[in-house]
Amino acid sequence: MGRIERLLAGMTLAEKIGQLNMAASFRAVTGPGARRDLEEGIRSGRVGNVLNLWGRAPVHALQRLAVEHSRLGIPLLMGLDVVHGHHTIFPVPLAEAGLFDPDIWERTARVAAAEAAADGVSLTFAPMVDVARDPRWGRMVESPGEDAWVACAFAAAKTRGFQGRELSGASSVVATAKHLCGYGAVNAGREYASVDLSERTLHEVYLPPFAAAVAAGTAAVMPAFIDIAGVPMTANASLLQGWLRERQAFDGLLISDYNAIAELCAHGVVADTAEAAALALTAGVDIDMASEVYSRGLPEALARGLISQAQLDVSVLRVLRLKERLGLFDDPYRSAQAHGSTVAARELARDAARRAIVLLTHRRAVLPLSAQLRTIALIGPLAQASKEMLGPWSAAGQPEEAVSILEGLRAALPRCRIESVAGVDIDRRDLRGIAAALECSRAADLTILCLGEPASMSGEGGSRADLSLPGDQQALAEAALDLGKPLIVLLTCGRPLTAPWLFERADAVLVTWFLGSEAGHAIADVLTGKFNPTGKLAVTWPRHVGQVPLFYGQRPTGRPAKAGERLTSSYLDLPPTPQFPFAHGLSYSSFSLHELRCEPRIVKTSEAIEVSLWLHNDSGVHGEATVFLFVHDPIASISRPLLELKGVRRIALGAAERAAVSWRVPVSSLASLGAELAPVVEPGRFEIYAGLSADADGLLGCSIEVVP
Ligand code: NOJ
Repeated sequence: MGRIERLLAGMTLAEKIGQLNMAASFRAVTGPGARRDLEEGIRSGRVGNVLNLWGRAPVHALQRLAVEHSRLGIPLLMGLDVVHGHHTIFPVPLAEAGLFDPDIWERTARVAAAEAAADGVSLTFAPMVDVARDPRWGRMVESPGEDAWVACAFAAAKTRGFQGRELSGASSVVATAKHLCGYGAVNAGREYASVDLSERTLHEVYLPPFAAAVAAGTAAVMPAFIDIAGVPMTANASLLQGWLRERQAFDGLLISDYNAIAELCAHGVVADTAEAAALALTAGVDIDMASEVYSRGLPEALARGLISQAQLDVSVLRVLRLKERLGLFDDPYRSAQAHGSTVAARELARDAARRAIVLLTHRRAVLPLSAQLRTIALIGPLAQASKEMLGPWSAAGQPEEAVSILEGLRAALPRCRIESVAGVDIDRRDLRGIAAALECSRAADLTILCLGEPASMSGEGGSRADLSLPGDQQALAEAALDLGKPLIVLLTCGRPLTAPWLFERADAVLVTWFLGSEAGHAIADVLTGKFNPTGKLAVTWPRHVGQVPLFYGQRPTGRPAKAGERLTSSYLDLPPTPQFPFAHGLSYSSFSLHELRCEPRIVKTSEAIEVSLWLHNDSGVHGEATVFLFVHDPIASISRPLLELKGVRRIALGAAERAAVSWRVPVSSLASLGAELAPVVEPGRFEIYAGLSADADGLLGCSIEVVP
């Protein structure tokens, strides 16, 4: 018998259940409920894990209670939402996804893990790998966007980054892939609403990122709050046991979402606490986050025969094994040195942030900013909002350590006079401040409008029915535009915002999302041309909320949209096309693609093709291009999406330079799920496309013939 088995053999029922219990501490408030006797719970062995606490001193104090004052001395697992940084805050995931760069995704997670581990955290509730196609849903901001292929790469990179080479490493934390699954498809984008998805979409779109996280070794998974077609995920044995544990061979921990086991009663699938506990445990959920239903319900569930001792022991063993893998039994305080933000971490945050900025429009050559500018009017409610730059889920990030847009620009342009006026408040309707903003704008050579959403408008509980600029910002922007002076717009937000009038009228619009600690510096780098923008959209940007969900991987329709023809797939009052396609993002350089080739043209299913093209920098400006490889199977037994992403390349090119770009594509990677949802490559013609975005008009195409 090993240490773990010996421990298990000596545990009382209450101590076993304690290991399945994760109690909330109140440093970060991420859900309802009250902290009841946390310290007493730890001492008595009824609380084996804690969430929402960080900092060496408070974490060590609780750990000491567990290790030195509980009967068995089992260390606590300390969980926290370290989503896009711990002290150093990186761009929110939706923004970081737009880098299309697994190396940076991994490095930012590595830094976040090191900072969190030094602060006593041993497990993060991240990465969130929910595919998100509906910007009404506030949690799109936490997601890697609309595409399953990107979400898979993101899931793998983040898992590697958080967990490091081994979990016992002093700078590693357990990754938790969440929220299994389909949370992004909540009805009408409404938070916590029901989900109804086809099996096919589940397996083609929503599950693959979780499979990728498991393949990368994630040690924990969190089921989503929602139900799919009436089965709450917290009780979904077929997906948690059947798909995750059996088919994906996942042997790590399943941690419920906050209070989710108690909410099984509200879902209407159980009558009482004992039934809720039994249903979740039987579905495979090992740890109860914050609901105390396991503590209160499992003894009764055992007594009623709803669950067995053996079932309980399996979950307890999983928790103990993970604590052992983390090295907590040997070093419960973990040996990492507290270091907060380092210079290197801030540099990485600045680089990730400037790479995440997407230049959406550039109608008049106002960028990069001219060195001759003497005065800038920095207008809008987000100009000086350093706290908002951090975005939702900012862990230990300190607002006063985040660089506001004003601070960033002043540091970058010391000889330019930059005056800043908010003009309007996002939450309070009051137009009286607009006059002062206009006065400031009139007196300046250039106006930069800082518009968007505060961090609290996205993230959990951040669903919106309207995707336009909140409050009086449109009135402010229209008044500023009416002055007819050079004007640039910076959009701070956690989702695409619909504002067609703004995209038509402003000289340039950049979406800066929530860029984190280095936001202001990163924005200044891009505006001044110190950094040539490379960010791309990880989600399609709609024109109007009525178009959503809108994403590039739609299936063909029998009646494709034709302008002016009524009985085609479009709207009477709006074009069906997006404001900006998936992967859109301009640069100060201009790139073009040439001579797409696929070799060989006839290929067997066991072989691979070589796809190649030339990328030209048609401008005199050094820059970095991102080239996307898509495929389409035009005739398949199940109709295939119009485009499916299969590869991304980022290439830096000097002025007027060109470079060869190529991919080796195994034909097996063109597989889709057949009628029985098993992967199959159906012989026949495949179309191969390359583009600088998913805009159909800008794609180069060729085709291959797959033979058996
Ligand atoms: C609820 C959220 O859905 C989840 O993502 C998060 O990890 C937990 N609360 C803990 O804060």
